[in-house]
Amino acid sequence: MRTTISVIKADIGSLAGHHVVHPDTMAAANKVLAEAKKNGIIADYYVTNVGDDLELIMTHTRGELDTKVHETAWDAFKEATKVAKDLGLYAAGQDLLSDTFSGNLKGMGPGMAEMEIEERPAEPFVVFMADKTEPGAYNFPQYKMFADPFNTAGLVIDPTMHEGYKFEILDVYEGESVTLQSPEEIYDILALIGTPSRYVIRRVYRKSDGMIGAVTSIERLNLLAGKYVGKDDPVMIVRVQHGFPALGETLEAFSFPYLVPGWMRGSHYGPLMPVSQRDARATRFDGPPRLIGLGFNVKNAKLVGPSDLFDDPAFDETRRLASQIADYMRRHGPFMPHRLEPTEMEYTTLPLVLEKLKPRFKKESDVVKAKQSIYEKETESSD
Ligand code: 13P
Ligand code: 13P
Ligand code: MG
Ligand code: MG
Ligand code: MG
Ligand code: MG
Repeated sequence: MRTTISVIKADIGSLAGHHVVHPDTMAAANKVLAEAKKNGIIADYYVTNVGDDLELIMTHTRGELDTKVHETAWDAFKEATKVAKDLGLYAAGQDLLSDTFSGNLKGMGPGMAEMEIEERPAEPFVVFMADKTEPGAYNFPQYKMFADPFNTAGLVIDPTMHEGYKFEILDVYEGESVTLQSPEEIYDILALIGTPSRYVIRRVYRKSDGMIGAVTSIERLNLLAGKYVGKDDPVMIVRVQHGFPALGETLEAFSFPYLVPGWMRGSHYGPLMPVSQRDARATRFDGPPRLIGLGFNVKNAKLVGPSDLFDDPAFDETRRLASQIADYMRRHGPFMPHRLEPTEMEYTTLPLVLEKLKPRFKKESDVVKAKQSIYEKETESSD
């Protein structure tokens, strides 16, 4: 049976700053999805949040980029925004860049990861959701899961994984993608995905039969809007077991709190901290960037679960190290490499500061010329 898992998310406003989604906005979204389930548009759903991002996890049989499913998500975000406005929540409707729905949600602000699959007899998968970071943040763990035998034992010892995987990598600036194979092309893969602000792993496929294993949301809000409108806060769906990484292998990829761009004002590098649903709230310096992972099974398009995967003392040391890294990075204040590089800052409010200072910049060559002419005048008069 062909089932589609659609994870669609948006920041529609939040409590006390960019901190956490308000339960009443989630209830409003829930109502829209319940109605869509009743009307047979979707088969099942789960509404959740990570920090200030409202996350709609839906299953259905209508395929990817389906108008009715996208419209349902849009309506849910609109209804939730209404509640956010009524409550005077912060940045109500933040990620909704357009007013009118026109067929699907591409380019409209919400982030989405969708995967149409032929259900296996048991179909376990994980939905990863992050706040205060951007899509390339999943490059590192996707590589670990699907290409690094020091992370994923199955690449070495499981014959169904041994051939490796294909990575579809998108250049988000040029809007073109390339598919590279691991293990043969891992150096080429790393040459690209090591620049996660530009090259984003969009999908991963099993090489032996082309079966899809992972998909991420690739929307970059600032590139869509041309200015800073909050961070993208990406999601990723990963199928696990039976020829894909084991559940524990996918989670192991997050045991090191690697640095990601985002955090305060979307303009700082900070450690990605895997947390439980309870701790999925942005606090310190609007972060540090947080990740949750919910484990599900899907059967006949119905969701079973979830399990809150990082609600586990096994990740306490990761979180402690993340806190220490947060301390270390914070002590750099406004200096790089805590603050992002200038190319990324182009999409923040920094250009306004530069514009204001423009008339006050002096050309270095003019200063030298002025000195030179003083010297020439002095030598003339002493002659
Ligand atoms: P169990 O014996 O607990 O099912 O473990 C199987 C396994 O392969 C764990 O990675
Ligand atoms: P969000 O994208 O999570 O709204 O973050 C915006 C921000 O500027 C945090 O400081
Ligand atoms: Mg926000
Ligand atoms: Mg957010
Ligand atoms: Mg955001
Ligand atoms: Mg078992």
